[in-house]
Amino acid sequence: MENRKENIYETDALVSQYCEFQYGDEYLGIENFAKVCAQKAIAYSATTPQKRALDLGCATGRASLELAKVFEYVNGVDYSQAFINVAKDIQKERCISYALNSEGAIKQCKEVCLNALGLNDVGEKVEFFQGDACDLMPLLAEYDLIMATNLIDRLYEPQLFLNTIHKRIHDEGYLVLTSPYTWMEEYTAKEFWIGGYYDSKGDEVRTLEGLKAILNDNFDLVEVEDVPFVIRETPRKYQYTLSQMSVWKRKRR
Ligand SMILES: C[S@@+](CC[C@H](N)C(=O)[O-])C[C@H]1O[C@@H](n2cnc3c(N)ncnc32)[C@H](O)[C@@H]1O
Repeated sequence: MENRKENIYETDALVSQYCEFQYGDEYLGIENFAKVCAQKAIAYSATTPQKRALDLGCATGRASLELAKVFEYVNGVDYSQAFINVAKDIQKERCISYALNSEGAIKQCKEVCLNALGLNDVGEKVEFFQGDACDLMPLLAEYDLIMATNLIDRLYEPQLFLNTIHKRIHDEGYLVLTSPYTWMEEYTAKEFWIGGYYDSKGDEVRTLEGLKAILNDNFDLVEVEDVPFVIRETPRKYQYTLSQMSVWKRKRR
């Protein structure tokens, strides 16, 4: 990944956009995506131990903090050092300021604080690391839940993550994935797409089918549901996206 072109997730523009997406206002009547995903993951995993959780591709860390309302210890890991710096800042300072796009070059300064989000007391249960989902550090293991929201179609080789992630989850623990399946060669070479292409016979290969083919040996598919999200670009431009959540339960070894 080191030799690839500039990582968009390291830019100031994306950092501000994700601060607002994860900690800021809700738009178009759609609830905060990080919070909703964490709540759903907590509910799905409620019948199993809820000790250790990993939020992979955590961006600025909101879902990691939400998971820590219930889990005893949470890791948030992201490839972007800029995102991890924000996550650590808000964990330490409990507030964060950022410049929100207003109109053209005009910005609006905004501050958000954890106490307003009901997250004041959870930070000490969370440890953030910069890391690569396709090449995770050995210490990132023994989880009851691994959540990776909107990550797989942004990985340079998602198979490296999906083929090995079961080794880091306890028996009967959960893997919660979401993705809008917006495969782009900018992020993932076409040969590594899990789905969203025609095979050599001209048949459609859908991503959910690709996920089943990879994960079925080690996981049971428990549930599939759509989760919408809205990212604010400017006060007059919003991205509305429908992500698909798939919930996988680790088979007993
Ligand atoms: C579309 S964003 C999703 C962020 C967040 N999980 C959410 O649902 O809003 C994709 C995230 O994956 C991170 N990412 C991309 N490649 C990664 C990798 N190889 N390992 C870990 N994180 C990665 C990006 O830095 C970015 O934060």
